[in-house]
Amino acid sequence: MSSIFVTVFIITTIATVLALLLTLANYYIADYGERKIVINNDKELYVEGGTTLLSSLISNEIFIPSACGGKGNCGYCKCKVEEGGGPILATELSYLSEDDKNCNIRLSCQVKVKENMKIEIPEELFNVKQYNVVVEFARDVTPTIKYLRLAICEDKEIQFRAGQYIQLLAPPYADSNEDVFRAYSIASQSTTNKYIELLIGYVPDGIVTTYVHKHLTKGDKVTFNGPYGDFYLSDSDCDIVLVAVGTGMAPIRSILLDIKDKKISRNVIFFFGARTEDDLFMIDEMKRLEEELPQFTFVPTLSRPDKNSWNGEVGRVTDMIDKYLEYKEGREAYLCGNGPMIKSTVNHLIDKGFSEDNIYYDSFD
Ligand code: FES
Repeated sequence: MSSIFVTVFIITTIATVLALLLTLANYYIADYGERKIVINNDKELYVEGGTTLLSSLISNEIFIPSACGGKGNCGYCKCKVEEGGGPILATELSYLSEDDKNCNIRLSCQVKVKENMKIEIPEELFNVKQYNVVVEFARDVTPTIKYLRLAICEDKEIQFRAGQYIQLLAPPYADSNEDVFRAYSIASQSTTNKYIELLIGYVPDGIVTTYVHKHLTKGDKVTFNGPYGDFYLSDSDCDIVLVAVGTGMAPIRSILLDIKDKKISRNVIFFFGARTEDDLFMIDEMKRLEEELPQFTFVPTLSRPDKNSWNGEVGRVTDMIDKYLEYKEGREAYLCGNGPMIKSTVNHLIDKGFSEDNIYYDSFD
């Protein structure tokens, strides 16, 4: 009996000592105190150590792309960590190329601020801000695509370039218990600074798309941050070929509206692909643009048309490239769609004399 008592006493004592040691370790080791982050050898931030680099930056209103909300599974939140990042973590490996590793690129949502750091981020990210907005319009433009107009409620304006994107926040709701950001291209022209328009396709079980399609209505308040991205029209005077499918219409529409607003006189042809007439949208607006811009041609094409009602082009957008474009060098192309569409369009454009350096794309896979 006494040996059982002694054994229980020893186990209890060991467990108590271990718990005490853990508490002390947590107190002394995990308490990193205040840490300094130097950005671009210029700006200095003082942050509470122990949190991720991404959240330290966000709490100082420096937003870098983070489409998965810091879970380490989008690879968007890269930045250069010159000092203080510690070794690369296993969770970063699948998103870092050999070049990234050689250049000290890291995933900011995985790196913890445990010591003073020196980092580099693109200067344009200092223009990224968070906006509280109200839904001015929300309507279905096809059975699976919703158009939103979000008006900025505060005394702020957004500056962006046509072709860029924002990250929209879905707060916790019936089907999700956490904040989730997703990236969406801006569909409106860059000269409108008090609101943005978005085209959001429904993805079954998608947390943000379900929120937008099934919960968000006119008058609701939401949050986004941005702008991000380097997909925008160059300053050259080359002819322009635009190619999009589905919600790829968004950045292309923004570019087209800018071409009109800024009176850019480059020749433009836009190939837009959809499956059926139900999947076509903003066609009247494109036709109006054709009337207003003599140098603009719009070519909608359907891959599965109703032959009784559709008199337009039939096939994929790549078929239209073969049909409408002659072999010629010195043009630029801007593509927006899914990965396979982008890949096959690039091949067709190269066959028509495009240089790979003049093909820009925004892939939404
Ligand atoms: S935010 Fe997605 S990987 Fe870091």
